[in-house]
Amino acid sequence: NELDRAPSQGVGPVYMSSTDKPTATVSTQVSHQNITILPQTPQLIALLTMIRDKNTNRADFIFHSNRIIRLLVEEGLNHLPVREHIVTTPVGKTYNGVRFEGKICGVSIMRAGEAMEQALRECCRSVRIGKILIQRDEETSQPRLFYDKLPEDIADRWVLLLDPMLATGGSALMAVDVLRSKGVPEERICFLNLIASPEGAANFAKKFPKLRVVTAFVDKGLDEKNYIVPGLGDFGDRFYTL
Ligand code: PRP
Ligand code: URA
Repeated sequence: NELDRAPSQGVGPVYMSSTDKPTATVSTQVSHQNITILPQTPQLIALLTMIRDKNTNRADFIFHSNRIIRLLVEEGLNHLPVREHIVTTPVGKTYNGVRFEGKICGVSIMRAGEAMEQALRECCRSVRIGKILIQRDEETSQPRLFYDKLPEDIADRWVLLLDPMLATGGSALMAVDVLRSKGVPEERICFLNLIASPEGAANFAKKFPKLRVVTAFVDKGLDEKNYIVPGLGDFGDRFYTL
């Protein structure tokens, strides 16, 4: 089974010789054009190691996942359009820069996606945030939509869709259907995700090839209960209740 051969690589500063670096499992690479996987830096791998560890307590889980989520938000913002913006510096010189163009909003898939709202607010002050409550049935893994509350003008905005876990992809695909039913085109949605399964990533690429996915890691696969493996368990439980 190809999925059993998890990719590994030496992790450490780029200028360190590979024989001096410890080897760690890194993200599976996928060929879908719409997915951006964060660079597998020593920082990211160390943070992921913390949150994957079943012995990590809730306070540490929150702290370290927040750091990864901040990286995801910063990278996600790179996928929004910018336009030329020239400024004058205090020494009277001009600087040719850019600034963001267009309006954005966040949309979190409750409950776990709400954990990503803080990092979005830290980067985009007073950003509007919509909510979609989707829960996966524990027996069948099928998603159920309970509620949505979204900004009225969402069809005119770029949407950063937030959910840390992409397992079968059912929940996130359902959330995208809700957004599209409100008039948001697929190419104006960027899905920020912490860990994806190869199956979830493939389902997404097949159904919404123009929707950008930014993830920290594509894992090996899914187990018989459709949990991501090796994964980190139930994100919502570990962040909010365990
Ligand atoms: C989790 C997770 C995703 C979904 C992923 O939420 O946050 O929304 O499962 O699984 P899928 O890709 O197979 O649909 P869950 O429904 O467990 O609710 P929670 O956020 O309350 O933990
Ligand atoms: N939801 C989670 O929180 N974790 C998984 O592995 C799958 C769904």
